[in-house]
Amino acid sequence: MTDTAIAWDTYSRQRPDRRPTNARGETTWFNWTQYADHGPGAELLGLPPGGRVLDLGCGKGGNAAHLAAIGMQAVGVDISPKQLGAAHQRWGHMLGLDLHQAEAVTFLKGTQEMFDAVYSVCGAVWFTDPARLLPAVRERLRPGGRLVFSQRPPVEGCYGCQASYIPRSPDEDPLVVKRWDHEPDAWEHLLAEHGYMDVRATVLAAPPGPRKVGTLIVQARA
Ligand SMILES: C[S@@+](CC[C@H](N)C(=O)[O-])C[C@H]1O[C@@H](n2cnc3c(N)ncnc32)[C@H](O)[C@@H]1O
Repeated sequence: MTDTAIAWDTYSRQRPDRRPTNARGETTWFNWTQYADHGPGAELLGLPPGGRVLDLGCGKGGNAAHLAAIGMQAVGVDISPKQLGAAHQRWGHMLGLDLHQAEAVTFLKGTQEMFDAVYSVCGAVWFTDPARLLPAVRERLRPGGRLVFSQRPPVEGCYGCQASYIPRSPDEDPLVVKRWDHEPDAWEHLLAEHGYMDVRATVLAAPPGPRKVGTLIVQARA
């Protein structure tokens, strides 16, 4: 197993599972943000009925499962066997949901499938060099298909490749994964440079309460 997969397996053990139902009593839902019951939903993907959609870094699979539940053909890809195992355990029975353990760029380069939308919620798009990832995604999007991703906004002054630490026990060093942080206008330029159209990057404010960090949401079309 790669160091990256080991790091994300470690992360997986620390994360709580998605709640059984959301505030509206729904058993599946789409969430772009780090806050419960907050922000837009699957409409950002602009999917046609029965559309094919790819989740890069699907984690425990809750968003991809929601898309399958509303009739889409959803494919979830994640590098971590633990994350994917949890996704299989909770959602593996769902029709229209296909889960793969793979690194995102390797998966994109190894498939011939085309997608109506590709998305990532604090997922592989955040943790992969955009110079490798953006062209690989564009190759697999139908003309007009959407790439949408969310992540925490950058810390002021900290741009480009950054270190993310995944804690372990007090006797062990944390594991490190790389992530790519940019201001919204820098993401807009980067996506346009890679041939994407109608690029829009905005920061959605956090919900009322003590936490202040919003969510960066980037939308573009192939
Ligand atoms: C912060 S978690 C978010 C998971 C999920 N999208 C969610 O909203 O709960 C990041 C996920 O991206 C996956 N990941 C990171 N880099 C990846 C890569 N290069 N290829 C595939 N998956 C990756 C990790 O294994 C992890 O499950």
